[in-house]
Amino acid sequence: MTDMTTRLAGVEFANPVFTASGCAAAGKELDQFFDITLLGGVVTKSIMNAPRSGRATPRMAETPSGMLNSIGLQGPGIASFLEHDLAWLQARGARAVVSIAGGSVEDYATLAKELRGHPAVSMIEVNISCPNVEDRGQVFACDARASSGVVQAVRQNTAVGTPVFAKLSPDVTDITAIARACVDAGADGLSVINTLLGMVIDTTTMRPALAGITGGLSGPAIRPVAVRCVYQVHAALPHVPILGMGGIRTGLDALEFVLAGASAVSVGTTVFGDPGAPLRILDELEQALAERGIERLSDAVGLAHRPPVERVPEDPDPVGDEPVAAMSDSPDDSPSDSPFEDAFEETP
Ligand SMILES: Cc1cc2nc3c(=O)[nH]c(=O)nc-3n(C[C@H](O)[C@H](O)[C@H](O)COP(=O)(O)O)c2cc1C
Repeated sequence: MTDMTTRLAGVEFANPVFTASGCAAAGKELDQFFDITLLGGVVTKSIMNAPRSGRATPRMAETPSGMLNSIGLQGPGIASFLEHDLAWLQARGARAVVSIAGGSVEDYATLAKELRGHPAVSMIEVNISCPNVEDRGQVFACDARASSGVVQAVRQNTAVGTPVFAKLSPDVTDITAIARACVDAGADGLSVINTLLGMVIDTTTMRPALAGITGGLSGPAIRPVAVRCVYQVHAALPHVPILGMGGIRTGLDALEFVLAGASAVSVGTTVFGDPGAPLRILDELEQALAERGIERLSDAVGLAHRPPVERVPEDPDPVGDEPVAAMSDSPDDSPSDSPFEDAFEETP
């Protein structure tokens, strides 16, 4: 029907639907529900150098149309990940996108070296939403220079031909400034977006619901923010591939991200309640494209950026008037009716 293949920085994937980091571990559990090799790729939980037990519990809380988590990057460490998780994905024949996380530029460089040239690694996603232990816990992703340092270190230690995607945080004033810094530092693409920092207070205990006090907000509640971020990043850097995510629950949700400029999407929080969702979303997206007469997924990428169709005002007196075309000749006589320009002007 529709050609669903997608290219991310020169690497081809059979389709644009991926898991989201941290929401499907390394794919083994999801594989009990559907054949994970049918996905575009499996994005693994961010791995760090050393094993980590994560934050104290409780570390999840429900929110309207979403959830809050403060897992704290629990994981087995890179050595065990390579031996068990990546080896399993390789044996299973799935496309692996390995997400890495660290507390210093050196941590990220070491992880990249460990993964360098591994045949099972289709792509690396750099989770820069981590506190920088060398800078008072300042989150890398919230600072252009810090983001750039991490991306440069990973790119330098990653094989040519393995795309490096930097995963951006929405908790910044201007996401395009961070996006540009990452691309200038060598990122081949961008993952947009990570969770938003949030908080829930339990009104019974009258204390924060999470032991970590704050947590990352995800799910449908963040989708409009995520779509806005993808749209802005694509507008600023139209040739940079984007893996879009944030509250995708249906094929039409995924289509929104594609139209905003994403060449692929990750499905995260939705799989907790509906483990089969990624495949269903892939089917629904394919159908939605076909219904719109779009033969190739790639033709839909960024389509929401095309100029608005000129609306011709209804003519109350069609006889003896100027030709309608003349009404649109002067670009300066009225404010643009583009909802996009207005949106940009209103962005703080
Ligand atoms: C429980 C949980 C754990 C997550 N862990 C990671 C992680 O390890 N690394 C990362 O880059 N993003 C992590 N994320 C963020 C997701 O990958 C995704 O960017 C975000 O949740 C938005 O997508 P969604 O609304 O579809 O979940 C996590 C999200 C959740 C809900």
